[in-house]
Amino acid sequence: MVNEKELVGIEAAKYVEEGMVVGLGTGSTAHHLIVELGRRVREEGLHFVGVATSVQSAELAKEVGINIQSFNDVKQIDLTIDGTDEFDPELNGIKGGGGAHLIEKIIAVNSDRVIWICDHSKEVAQLGAFPLPVEVIRDASQHLYDSFEVKGYAPSYRLTPAGDKFITDNGNYLIDLHLEKIINASQLAEELIHLVGVVEHGLFLNVADHVIMAKADKIVHFYK
Ligand code: A5P
Repeated sequence: MVNEKELVGIEAAKYVEEGMVVGLGTGSTAHHLIVELGRRVREEGLHFVGVATSVQSAELAKEVGINIQSFNDVKQIDLTIDGTDEFDPELNGIKGGGGAHLIEKIIAVNSDRVIWICDHSKEVAQLGAFPLPVEVIRDASQHLYDSFEVKGYAPSYRLTPAGDKFITDNGNYLIDLHLEKIINASQLAEELIHLVGVVEHGLFLNVADHVIMAKADKIVHFYK
């Protein structure tokens, strides 16, 4: 059986060119991208600078031989390649299933070009079936949680396998909103980002330029 995540990870690695500064995404699909880029560095002598979107991706990238620099130390990012949890026909998406959407968004909006890579389960007609992650300051979390409940957003705290509250790379909690359908994504994005104590939400609107999706053994491209 074809591993769709591996197929797109390897395909997307072809978009990295000599001398680029590249944002490296997080998650199980980005994992394959990073491994393939490491192979290109070692076997093809490719030189590029990687900017990681999480501690996990930085560690993997270093392990496979990629030169990683911090976002603060690069002038601009040429291309970011990342996974997604959902994308719609306008290439808007929900991200943060791995809890890394704050840094993923910072890197993406500062990139000249953004490619998302995914298996075919991520293509949706309307966003919202995937719980929308909201990263919140710990001290504000319970009051935000309660206000989400009052609004009918069906919140739940992201938990670790041991049942503790998940703590992001930035030291915050995550509240997932089980919305089922998001009717007006830009209005919701505006509302969430203006709540004091919310650090960032997982709605990525007008961020991706190109989605590379695998469907069985086929690669399908979507462009903005
Ligand atoms: C990480 O926080 C996420 O935004 C991931 O990019 C997203 O969850 C996709 O993950 P997978 O590639 O593991 O499906």
